[in-house]
Amino acid sequence: MRLKIIAGNWKMNKTNPEALELVRGLISSVGHVDNPRVVLCPPFTALSEVARLLKGHSYFLGAQNMYSKESGAFTGEIAPAMLLTIGVSYVILGHSERREYFSESDGIVNEKVKLAIKTGLIPIVCIGEKLEEREQGKTEEVVGRQLDGSLANLSEEEFRKVVIAYEPVWAIGTGRTATPEMAQEVHRFIRERLEKRYSELARQVSILYGGSVTGENAHGLLSMPDIDGALVGGASLKIDQFTKIIKSA
Ligand code: 13P
Repeated sequence: MRLKIIAGNWKMNKTNPEALELVRGLISSVGHVDNPRVVLCPPFTALSEVARLLKGHSYFLGAQNMYSKESGAFTGEIAPAMLLTIGVSYVILGHSERREYFSESDGIVNEKVKLAIKTGLIPIVCIGEKLEEREQGKTEEVVGRQLDGSLANLSEEEFRKVVIAYEPVWAIGTGRTATPEMAQEVHRFIRERLEKRYSELARQVSILYGGSVTGENAHGLLSMPDIDGALVGGASLKIDQFTKIIKSA
């Protein structure tokens, strides 16, 4: 049995008062939920306050990024221990927006993934092709390369801790979601590629889909055999939408 996860990536949205309002609304709309596991990923500035509000509730907290070193002279960066000590359990790594706007390579993502696991955070490792890559028939080549690079040199023990998110770049924030069949095809490819390296362990890893997931399309996506949850952007900022997505899972 694989863990079902619905994660909300708030991106660069919500001041602290707005964040607290959203979380309070979610708690009263969704109530207690163990399955799926719900992970909220507010911006860094809201993590502490949201953590306090989530005490005693079933939701998990995630960060949207972290640095690849444990401490030191890295102005403006955030270390894993800073996240862990305020109650963060998950960290999104290698999101396409980090890759695109902040030049994060597979090598950088790999360093972060290793450090996250070493320090006790669960990495949600994002991969996905751009529109022109899909149109050129390169989806598997690109996704395969990102997968291998981001997870390079992980032992079986380390790999057990990983969550994968397939987010086709052309579907992010565009309202143009992959059909369940299109997404399933890539999720299966990812799992088969992982099976070659990690055999049965690959059947235990949760692979989330992300890209314009809504309350309306979540059920179809989440019904596919290799889709184990969703990484939700825009719709995670709307209480009714995010509630529907959680209920679909
Ligand atoms: P949207 O759901 O807004 O398309 O964003 C997806 C995403 O990037 C989640 O990480």
